[in-house]
Amino acid sequence: MATALHRVPSERSDFTIDQNWSAYSEEEHAVWRLLFERQHGILQGRACAEFLAGLDGLGIAADGIPDFRRLSDVLMRTTGWQIVAVPGLVPDDIFFEHLANRRFPSTCFIRTREQLDYLQEPDVFHDIYGHVPLLMNPVFADYMEAYGKGGLKASGQDALRYLARLYWYTVEFGLIATPEGLRIYGSGILSSKGESIFSLEDASPHRIGFDLLRIMQTRYRIDDYQESYFVIDSFDQLFEATKPDFTPYYAALKPRPEFEPGTLLPEDRLLHRGSGAYHAAKR
Ligand code: PHE
Ligand code: FE
Repeated sequence: MATALHRVPSERSDFTIDQNWSAYSEEEHAVWRLLFERQHGILQGRACAEFLAGLDGLGIAADGIPDFRRLSDVLMRTTGWQIVAVPGLVPDDIFFEHLANRRFPSTCFIRTREQLDYLQEPDVFHDIYGHVPLLMNPVFADYMEAYGKGGLKASGQDALRYLARLYWYTVEFGLIATPEGLRIYGSGILSSKGESIFSLEDASPHRIGFDLLRIMQTRYRIDDYQESYFVIDSFDQLFEATKPDFTPYYAALKPRPEFEPGTLLPEDRLLHRGSGAYHAAKR
């Protein structure tokens, strides 16, 4: 299987590799097509308009795994971002360094047909389909760069856990309120058929108004659908709220308690009080 070709360890210090686009097999493109077509149907009326516009603008389609060079050309002209290929999760400092320089590190390999619904590590469908379309949006593009810079700074302040939670509850699992109702912008949801429906329509999870420090105190689940989703009003709100220097925030957070993923607080701005039924049934 050609997948092995995309896992060759990197020799470069920034962990980048070549995507080796021409080495993808027909089966690998076919898996992309399946995933794309499933999400395409589900995400009309569920994904935020900025995401759908980004997909369109990039020409990300059902035909097959995109060539990163072609995507980078379009991105570079639009928001100055590019995509670099990496073999898998990279060390934090390498990841932040790429983002801070408007480079999005993407894996190259694609899940197998047996893993269509869930896989724990990011693959090219999650990274490209889920993350890259919003990099066409100028405000979101700036947010991601700022996050990278913030990451480099937080590393020296023993504060990465706070920033990781912010990333999780925004970039990966964020919801946005629009005049037409709640929509998805988090890539972890956008690349998952089940969670695209669960996050918006299931009675189980809480849906809570965005609150920066509250999010930074909240642990998250990496092995299942989220118990709480946080809802922004706009990308401008997200960008403005994260603009201040976080140094005093980190200092204030250190003595404070951490919250479990399903905890509700009296001061939460609740859009939906979750029943918790989904996770309760599993315990
Ligand atoms: N403003 C943050 C800081 O000073 C950086 C940041 C921006 C972090 C956007 C996350 C998102 O650390
Ligand atoms: Fe991701």
